[in-house]
Amino acid sequence: MQRTQAMTSVQPDWENFYPRPISEKTPFFSKDGRLYDCLFAQQLNRELLEHLFSTADRLRAVTQKKDGADYVSALLSDKRAMLYFVQPSTRTFMSFLNACHILGIKTSEIRDTTTSSEVKGETPEDTVRTFSSYVDMIIMRHPAPGFVEKTAWLMNRTGRPVPIVNGGSGKDQHPTQALLDMYTLHRSFGGELDGKHIVMVGDLKRGRTVRSLSYLMKNYKNVSLSFVSPRQFCMEPDILEFLKRHNIPFTETEDFKGVMKSADAIYMTRIQDEHDKSGESKAVDYSPFHFRKEHLDLIKKTCVILHPLPRRHEIEVTVDDDPRAVFWRQERNGMWARAALMAYIFGVDGKIR
Ligand code: CP
Repeated sequence: MQRTQAMTSVQPDWENFYPRPISEKTPFFSKDGRLYDCLFAQQLNRELLEHLFSTADRLRAVTQKKDGADYVSALLSDKRAMLYFVQPSTRTFMSFLNACHILGIKTSEIRDTTTSSEVKGETPEDTVRTFSSYVDMIIMRHPAPGFVEKTAWLMNRTGRPVPIVNGGSGKDQHPTQALLDMYTLHRSFGGELDGKHIVMVGDLKRGRTVRSLSYLMKNYKNVSLSFVSPRQFCMEPDILEFLKRHNIPFTETEDFKGVMKSADAIYMTRIQDEHDKSGESKAVDYSPFHFRKEHLDLIKKTCVILHPLPRRHEIEVTVDDDPRAVFWRQERNGMWARAALMAYIFGVDGKIR
């Protein structure tokens, strides 16, 4: 694989690089004009999204039969991936692991720093650099914002760079969740995503999934957003500025019932109290931001209800039986969307027919 000019030129120090606009940084995370490190939702443009959706659809179809599954599982049987997930995860970890297996990628994992040589004082940066001695891709979840990006930046300066995929970094980004969310909307609406009204509900301040999904809205025409949250946990100004810059209309409200009637999609999230510094979540009544069974009578017949999961009480379990509740399908879509992404990064997407 040819390294781009941007990768081989002398790069600035991390402290100078990190604050730069994403648009300036993305060339450092591409190779041969293709996405190489998947770090930010802003790297996913409409053309790439649609390509990944169709690749995911093809993967699903081809692997239904054993000979197809065997063919796909040989595509990347020469590759190994490391899953470095040092923040709790069920579905991102499991869906990446199984997506690797679908493509034949062999996997290893660290899920707890107490089992790595970090307990002997090795820095996380040296730890992840060590992985690149053994594997061809690193998929990471890390509690510190920017750490996954820093890993990719460091790795691209070494003699053995490997692609880095962000499986969730701090409060800032979860780009592959946004990819699978968009894939779920794409499948729910038969590919017609333009013109939709999307309502995001919950702890929007500290939820990285709603942040990454908001960035993807720039790829669609006439989309409008409503942000429904307790005022303590409203969407951060950087996302609102981004939407204004891209002429994407949005409203902010605490009146969930008032906006749900006009929604084409409702994206529920839980309270992110793992980020509490002094128990601030306990001071908030979250119940007005729950979706209850009686709300099913208020929303459109075509509205879909999503949730990145895990949930607590923000969607009543009895809602799950309604065909408009797509969050269990959304979870499974994650495996196919992530398999499509890895096939693309390794350049075998064209072989899935
Ligand atoms: N949606 C999501 O990121 O779930 P996990 O935390 O279980 O990976």
